Amino acid sequence: MHTDTFTGETNAEKLKVKQAREAESVGKRVLLQGWVRTRRDSKGGFSFIDLSDGSSLKGVQVIAENKLPNYESEILKCGIGSSVEVIGTIVASPAKGQLTEVKAESIKILGYSDPDKYPLQKKETSMEYLRTIAHLRTRTMTFGAVFRIRNEICRSIHNFFQSRGFMYVQTPIITSSDCEGAGQMFRVTTLDLANIPWKEGADNKREIDFEQDFFGRATSLTVSGQLEGEIFATSFGSVYTFGPTFRAENSNTTRHLAEFWMIEPEVAFCDLEGDMDLAEDFLKSIFQDVLANCADDMAFLNEKVDNTIIETLKGIVESNFERLTYTEAVEILRNSGEKFDFPVEWGIDLQTEHERYLTERKFKKPVILTDYPRGIKAFYMKLNPDGKTVRAMDVLVPKIGEIIGGSQREDDAETLESRMKECGLNPDEYWWYLDLRRYGTVPHAGFGLGLERCVQFVTGMSNIRDVIPFPRAPKSCDF
Ligand code: 4AD
Ligand code: MG
Repeated sequence: MHTDTFTGETNAEKLKVKQAREAESVGKRVLLQGWVRTRRDSKGGFSFIDLSDGSSLKGVQVIAENKLPNYESEILKCGIGSSVEVIGTIVASPAKGQLTEVKAESIKILGYSDPDKYPLQKKETSMEYLRTIAHLRTRTMTFGAVFRIRNEICRSIHNFFQSRGFMYVQTPIITSSDCEGAGQMFRVTTLDLANIPWKEGADNKREIDFEQDFFGRATSLTVSGQLEGEIFATSFGSVYTFGPTFRAENSNTTRHLAEFWMIEPEVAFCDLEGDMDLAEDFLKSIFQDVLANCADDMAFLNEKVDNTIIETLKGIVESNFERLTYTEAVEILRNSGEKFDFPVEWGIDLQTEHERYLTERKFKKPVILTDYPRGIKAFYMKLNPDGKTVRAMDVLVPKIGEIIGGSQREDDAETLESRMKECGLNPDEYWWYLDLRRYGTVPHAGFGLGLERCVQFVTGMSNIRDVIPFPRAPKSCDF
């Protein structure tokens, strides 16, 4: 049930290759193991079983004749969801829909599934309902396509960086520093919550005594691997992280998760221009790989979920992203004549509605905004000579808004220290981060791609909870 990669040009060529490959397989004896998607019984004395093992969108049509010894007793009872093992021969299929099918010589039922009780019925069910059965939704055509594409994106990401000599670095999940300084961290503790050890803190206020905690200090789940990534970049040049990150922001939206995966490249001897070039090449390479290697899954989602995805990705791969400053974007938004829920003025954090106006209405393609006001960005971003803005860049795409956030990093120890104080951070706690600027500092830059936002953009799925195997969001942590 595997679809091979194809590097040819036209659909006719594709079809030829496919037909030749299938013709070659005719006459071969095969063992198939999978789950029944549908069973149709024909009056002619045989049944059609659509068998899937999840490796591709299309299953295999199995022909079970009533001559089989267990036809009446077992095969006619094996409903949707049952697991079976088939030994048979590949034959040319007389029917439309597939070139070949498998004529069974034996069918063994491994596990029955009661069709009346099976939670996944053939009729389409809502995404909300499917989320409540996340242990079975992966067997549907839609989720099969989404997760095969997610896998292809992960493969493509590692390929992209590995082929360019980037080192893959595993940064810690439990941390004692807050990278984004936004205070949205999940605490990690083994303290007895029914019996918290208190101590006297400043102004006679009681404070939790974290010295008694597992690590002897307050710790949390990481919001980003960037700070540790910078350590590796200033030793190995070009590195990337690929791991889970956690944010306790109470955003119950279709684009936020409390646990999501992030890819964070970090490059030494690189400025913001180089960072933007890398981000653009990176996204294009992912989209190209998905178009080349997930054609069936993409065609299915393009038909069932969002009929613009293929055209959009093709368009992006072939053109350049728009690049402009935050200040220029604010001017465009102010002069747009649009009525936004959040009025635009210089200094505000742009909202999704603003990002979508820029990508969907104004430029109709991905947009990279640079040089944001210092007041709305993290402490580590390099201060511009104007003293008002920082060397930040966000990559925005249609429908999703921000897909990548990055920056050139502040490489001057003194400026960085004063930025930390300005952001309410204690420089003593970031002594090692400041050391990187004291001993052989270099210009360096990086960014973070939210994996789920990327999968969401590629697949056209409207809710981010449907592109991660088991979503975690406020008041929701099942499975
Ligand atoms: O813009 P963010 O917060 O950047 C960082 O964390 C930097 N340390 C990255 C770096 O420069 N190395 O997050 C990066 C990306 C966002 O653009 C978005 O795609 C995704 O992570 N993201 C989320 N995805 C899902 N749910 C959330 N709650 C997300 N928050 C951020
Ligand atoms: Mg951001």
